[in-house]
Amino acid sequence: MDSVKKIMIIGAGILQLPAIKMANEMGLYVIAVDIDPNAPGFKFADNCIQISTIDIDKVVEEAICLDVDAVMTLASDLPIRTVAAIGERLGLTTISEDTAIKATDKGKMRKQLKEHNVPIPNFYITKNYEDFQKATLNFNMPFIVKPSDNSGSRGVILVEEASDLLKVYEYTKQYSRSGEVLIEEYMAGPEVSVETLTVNGVTNVISITDKLTTGAPNFIEMGHSIPSQLSQDIQNEIIKITKSAIKAIGIDVGPSHTELIVTDEGPKIVELGARLGGDNITSHLVPLATGINMVECTILLSLGEKPILLPKYKKGASIRYIKAPEGIIHSVDYLQKANEIHGINEIILLKNIGERINKIKNSNDRIGYVIAQADSPAESTRICEEAINTMKINVAD
Ligand SMILES: Nc1ncnc2c1ncn2[C@@H]1O[C@H](COP(=O)(O)OP(=O)(O)OP(=O)(O)O)[C@@H](O)[C@H]1O
Ligand SMILES: [Mg+2]
Repeated sequence: MDSVKKIMIIGAGILQLPAIKMANEMGLYVIAVDIDPNAPGFKFADNCIQISTIDIDKVVEEAICLDVDAVMTLASDLPIRTVAAIGERLGLTTISEDTAIKATDKGKMRKQLKEHNVPIPNFYITKNYEDFQKATLNFNMPFIVKPSDNSGSRGVILVEEASDLLKVYEYTKQYSRSGEVLIEEYMAGPEVSVETLTVNGVTNVISITDKLTTGAPNFIEMGHSIPSQLSQDIQNEIIKITKSAIKAIGIDVGPSHTELIVTDEGPKIVELGARLGGDNITSHLVPLATGINMVECTILLSLGEKPILLPKYKKGASIRYIKAPEGIIHSVDYLQKANEIHGINEIILLKNIGERINKIKNSNDRIGYVIAQADSPAESTRICEEAINTMKINVAD
């Protein structure tokens, strides 16, 4: 009899929970790594290791010691280099360390995509304010400024005529771990993300998601729906560019989440991640729209197995984040009524009564969300909006 396979999951926070639970259900021996002793994923793991997910040397040492059969992370960028380092040391099915760096450093990613002629906006990488100020002269307003290595739109900002350049630079730089700040040409147009799974160097597109953001100046994701409602021609173009980007970065195995904006000159890459899409896209929307369990497929891939990637059905699935005025939440009405609307899959409030609702400046400021499934994406989106309009979040100053 085969002995039980050991999978190491890097990160045991809320984003990793679907992977830890699924690996557990699949009968694997789950080793979860997280610096936080109270990480929610630890409850579902067989072995909990309390080390920082970015302390590569220490995590590699543990992986060698435990002789793990697979290693993965789900929907966050931080542990990706650790996963790759373990994969290279133990000969497991992961991307290379070189690819992991190109997939998590926006500057290196842009350079690599440019070298491979993948459509991207003009960009400039700056290391200090003087450099930054000079580089801005090469861009027409408005342009985008962002840190080289953060996520959740932290530090991403649109610079317009009235913006104070020094303030913008200082705001963005505080979110940059490497200290690098990127300037990018502003791309206008509808935004999508593409979920893929690459098996033996062949990329399979699982879904294209239409994205709704708060728009300028901070571009926080406020909703997603699957499948995309863009024309088939544009979707074909999106697929072609996504595959060329994945190849250029060197992702030969595993998931990726690619973000694009469809400009007047055609789709261009915002960025790609060598991981599953977060924001409930891969854990909820893809399964609701296609029946494909990307989390399970990713676990199988990390074990060196070949998952079945055929859709089981075609439905519409949407998520919409809840908006409410700033202030302290003192009560929530009609939540039950909203939950009873046909097609509602789940309503989650991320803030409790007594907590403050702030102006949304990054993903962590969002207060909750609604997920729905229907026959079409237009209908699932309409159902989300109906639920949001039905419930009432009462705030006081
Ligand atoms: N060059 C650009 N032109 C237009 N919009 C952009 C550009 N770069 C970023 N954006 C907008 O800002 C959002 C966040 O940017 P980006 O994906 O680079 O940062 P992030 O912190 O990784 O965000 P997230 O983790 O939410 O994906 C994008 O999804 C897009 O809406
Ligand atoms: Mg992004």
